[in-house]
Amino acid sequence: MEPTEKESLQETAAAVDPEVEEPTQEKESKKRFSPDNAKLMQEAISKLMKDNPIAHKKLEEFKEMQPLFQPHAFWDTQPVQKVTETMGRSKVTPGPIEEKKKDEIDTEPIKLADGFEWCKIDIHNEEHAKELYDLLNKHYVEDDKGSFRFDYTIDFLKWALCPPGYKPKWHIGVRATKSQKLFAFISGIPVNLNIMGEEVKSSEINFLCVHKKLRSKRLSPILIKEVTRRINRTDIWQAIYTSGTLIPKPFSGTLYYHRPLNYKKLVDIGFSKKTKHFTAKKKLYSLPDEPETLGFRKLRKKDIKKVYPLVKEYLSKFKVSMSFSPEEAVHYLNYREGVIYSYVVEDPETKEITDFVSFYALNSSILDNEKYDLMNVAYCWYHCSTKTPIEKLLKDATIMAKNEGFDLFQMLNVMDNEAVMEELKFIQSAGNLHYYLFNYRLPSIKPEDIGIVLV
Ligand SMILES: CC(C)(COP(=O)(O)OP(=O)(O)OC[C@H]1O[C@@H](n2cnc3c(N)ncnc32)[C@H](O)[C@@H]1OP(=O)(O)O)[C@@H](O)C(=O)NCCC(=O)NCCS
Repeated sequence: MEPTEKESLQETAAAVDPEVEEPTQEKESKKRFSPDNAKLMQEAISKLMKDNPIAHKKLEEFKEMQPLFQPHAFWDTQPVQKVTETMGRSKVTPGPIEEKKKDEIDTEPIKLADGFEWCKIDIHNEEHAKELYDLLNKHYVEDDKGSFRFDYTIDFLKWALCPPGYKPKWHIGVRATKSQKLFAFISGIPVNLNIMGEEVKSSEINFLCVHKKLRSKRLSPILIKEVTRRINRTDIWQAIYTSGTLIPKPFSGTLYYHRPLNYKKLVDIGFSKKTKHFTAKKKLYSLPDEPETLGFRKLRKKDIKKVYPLVKEYLSKFKVSMSFSPEEAVHYLNYREGVIYSYVVEDPETKEITDFVSFYALNSSILDNEKYDLMNVAYCWYHCSTKTPIEKLLKDATIMAKNEGFDLFQMLNVMDNEAVMEELKFIQSAGNLHYYLFNYRLPSIKPEDIGIVLV
C-alpha cells in the first residue's frame, strides 16, 4: 500500500539534511557546554543570588545569552562570528571572514531528500503568490504565546521581493514532489550596505519559513546553504538578516517599542493588558485628528528626488546603514497604498522639502479571538529631518497611522528612535530583534548606530 503523504513526509524529512554531520570538535565542545550542566549551574547561582537584585539581573542577562555558548551544528560551520572569537579582544577589524572565488562554488543545487524538490517562486505569477501567501500566513513568525502571526499581504511581498535588480532565482521554494505542495521558502534580494564607511555589495535574507509539519528536520540549514550558493554564484559574499532567535552571533541586539493607537481594540484582543484604569489609559493614548507640523503632507512621486539626498545623508551617519541607489530610493520610499506610507514636510514659504517620515503596513492575524481577525500594525520605516524635530515628525506619523486605521505603531530603537520613545508614549515590547551579518566580522554596535530597518 502507498504510504500517505504525511507518512512519506515524515520518513523522507528525517533525512532532509544528511550533510549536517557534527565535526568531532563540536562533539567535544558539547560535553563542556552541555545544556544540562549549564542548567545545574544556573540553578545553583539562582539560589545564591536570590536576594541580590543586581546579581539577579546579571544572571537573567546570562540566561538570555546562553544560546550563544551552546554548540550549533550548522552555524558553527558557517563564516559567521563566533562568540568566543571576539570575547576579550580589544579591537575587531571589520571585514570578510572568508574569501572565495565564484568558480569554487557548486553550479548545481544542493540535493534535497527524496520526495522534495526545489522550485522558483515567481511572485508575479498569481498562483505562486497565493501559495507563498498561504505558507507564510499559516506558518511564519508568531509571538511567544501563539496569539498573533505576521500576515504579509501579496502586494507587500511583491514589493519586498522585487526591488531594482532583484534576482528571481533567489526566491526559493521547496515542494513535495508528489503533491507539489509548497513546504518551505527563503528569499534573498540584493542590497548595498555601508559598514563602517565601507560600501559592501551584499544581500538581504528574509522570509525563511518551514511548514509546521516539517519543523526540526534540519531543512533550514539546507535552505540557507542553497540561497547562499545562488548568491555566491553572482559574486556576492555577504548578507544581512534579522531574527528574534539568538544564534552565533549578532552584531547588535535591538528592541521593539509599541505605541497603542486603538487602545480599546488592543485590550479586546488581549494585546494590551486589561486594567481598571482603562478610561485613563484610553485618554493617555488619544491623538490629535490632524498632523501638527505645518506643511506635513503625503509624499508625491516627484518629491523623491528631493527626499533621496536627505535620507542618504542621514543614513550615512550610522555605523551600519543601507546605502540606497536613486532607483532603490524610488522603490523603497515611495508612497504605496497598503504597503508603504510616506510623508514629507514642505516649507509653506520656500516650498523646500525639509523632512521625511514613513512607515510600512504589516498586519498580524489574531489567532484566537471571536470578534477580530487582524491587528493592523504600522512599523516605523525610514525618516530624516533637517528642520522638524524628530519627535514632532514621528508624532505626526503616528497620527497618520491612526487615521489610516492602524491599531498599533511599532518602532525599533535603531537610528535616533530611542530618544522619542518616552515622549511619544511608546512601551517596550517583549523580546529582542537581533541583527546579523553573514561572512563579515564587526565589533558589536549599539542599536542607535544602526541605519537599517528590515521588513
Ligand atoms: C525558523 C524556522 C524556519 C526554523 O526551522 P526549524 O524546523 O525549527 O529548524 P531546522 O531543524 O530546519 O534547523 C535548525 C537550524 O536552523 C537554525 N535556525 C533556526 N531559526 C533560524 C533563523 N530564524 N535564522 C537562522 N537560523 C535559524 C537553528 O539555529 C539550527 O541551526 P544550529 O543547529 O546551527 O543552531 C521555522 O521555525 C519557521 O518557519 N518558523 C516560523 C518563521 C520564522 O520564525 N522564520 C524566521 C524569521 S527570522
